[in-house]
Amino acid sequence: DAPASVRKQLATLFREALIATVPTEPDVVPLIDACVPKNGVKHADYQCNNAMSLFAKIKGKRPEFKSPRSVGEAIMKNLPPSEMVESCSVAGPGFVNIVLSKKWISKSLQKMLTDGIDSWAPRLPIKRVMVDFSSPNIAKEMHVGHLRSTIIGDTLARMLEFCQPECLIRRNHIGDWGTQFGMLIAYLFEKFPNPEDVKESDIGDLQAFYKASKLKFDSDPDFKKKAQLSVVELQSGEDPKYRTAWKQICDISRTEFNKVYQRLGIRLEEMPESFFNPLIPPTLEKLEKLGLIEDNDGARVIFVEGVDIPLIAVKRDGGYNYFSTDLASLWYRLNVEKLDWNIYVTDVGQWQHFDMLFKAFRRAGWLPKDPNEYPICTHIGFGLVCGDDGKRFRSRSSETVRLVDLLDEAKRRCKVALLERDNAKDWTEEEIEKTSEAIGYGAVKYADLKINRTTNYTFNFDQMLNDKGNTAVYLLYAHARICSIIRKSGKDIEELKKTGNLVLEHEDERTLGLHLLQFTEVFVESCSNLLPNVLCEYLYNLSEIFTKKFYSSCQVVGSPEETSRLLLCEATLIVMRHCFYLLGIDPVYKL
Ligand code: ARG
Repeated sequence: DAPASVRKQLATLFREALIATVPTEPDVVPLIDACVPKNGVKHADYQCNNAMSLFAKIKGKRPEFKSPRSVGEAIMKNLPPSEMVESCSVAGPGFVNIVLSKKWISKSLQKMLTDGIDSWAPRLPIKRVMVDFSSPNIAKEMHVGHLRSTIIGDTLARMLEFCQPECLIRRNHIGDWGTQFGMLIAYLFEKFPNPEDVKESDIGDLQAFYKASKLKFDSDPDFKKKAQLSVVELQSGEDPKYRTAWKQICDISRTEFNKVYQRLGIRLEEMPESFFNPLIPPTLEKLEKLGLIEDNDGARVIFVEGVDIPLIAVKRDGGYNYFSTDLASLWYRLNVEKLDWNIYVTDVGQWQHFDMLFKAFRRAGWLPKDPNEYPICTHIGFGLVCGDDGKRFRSRSSETVRLVDLLDEAKRRCKVALLERDNAKDWTEEEIEKTSEAIGYGAVKYADLKINRTTNYTFNFDQMLNDKGNTAVYLLYAHARICSIIRKSGKDIEELKKTGNLVLEHEDERTLGLHLLQFTEVFVESCSNLLPNVLCEYLYNLSEIFTKKFYSSCQVVGSPEETSRLLLCEATLIVMRHCFYLLGIDPVYKL
């Protein structure tokens, strides 16, 4: 079984001490917190904070305890001996301060060096989980909003994957069905009366194609009629030429989406809206039988708890909408795919859509009344992408910004910076390409992930590509620098892992070692709240501790402690790289 986080191991230990102290409270939950430095000093590594509340419970019943502090002292005395604790002391009203043993920290690190980072994976009770993310709409270019969904969703999937669930699905719920297709198909037929003539290059720029057809739709009533008819034809499926045209348009979009996914290293499994189309009628029928669906001004709707407006399951014209598809797809996810955790990643603007969807399922008895009971549905919302003016991010021509252009620009700027370096001529063309992609795309991802996802985020190239702030550039350089320390030593690190000893003598070595060891508990926090920014903060602190503390006070290469310090460097690299992996960032080994 995987070793638990430091916090959890301490909790196990202190539970024994708590029960020994107050046997009448067998259900007591140990409260263990990591200490944070105050004014630059830290008096302990962790603290047990149970004494105060326990004293309140036993006051009067146990006269030997005169104050919370005396309970704290008893807890300390009752702590079973353990190699992980160096010393304890009681502070203030009864906090039990815990100092971990250096030996135990180094032993744990050394074990990770041999067993690999997977040995630090927590086991969370996740069985069958799906992350629905990216999910762009056909014929509309992927824009920065989808960038956020793609980046955040991919990271969440990577994080959940690390917990080794029984099954994890990365789902692309592509919008390939809807009224916009009538317009697109009608326009395609106008331009190419013979469908065989259509070549991909003709409508390769689908956004322009979409714009042109929309213009015609809005200005030409005849065309509008044709477009509406085309939707009916497409949905009835009787005349195959409509399906063929639809497929042509979808395939071109798909090719474009896949290019973005490939550049960003994103894996997705597509199950588009059209897949669920045949499942809509049977799903609605079931809801109908349960008496959930009522008539509302000609539309078929479902009312849900605490929301004034109804969920429209079937439009007045009999057509289906975004809700109809999501009713059918959630039914499928719960009953066919048997998922017990469905996570939807979209902008916060869709909060109500998902709130109503989940509530409708609760009303139907298809989801438990308690939202925390499995199967669980979670909507993960994120804020807007803004420009420097604080408004929705747009290009100069005030159109939505195309994702590919952003990625190109990030890469271009990184390439310029690399070529300006003194050692530019030591790099091969391929190295320059690969590195500018890793840094450029990594910077875009990290800038998004490092802020709490629920807030809006300002897109700014200068900020995200700064090599000094809290950016991927800074972090990737820190990583490359540590790699070069190991290279310079000329030592075979794999050999050292087997034969060398990691010891933490210097205070800054210990600080670095402890921070490394705290990876698991920070990861658990980040994962439980589905907040990647917690992980980013940890990674940034790790680089800071390495650079500003450890590396500025502890000589590595050529020092008497060289072996041990190289091992500490290697442990740092492993944890950093794992964080990069979870954040979807490719590491850089050379600078
Ligand atoms: N296609 C939608 C959009 O671009 C996102 C779909 C999210 N997933 C879902 N099952 N509704 O806004």
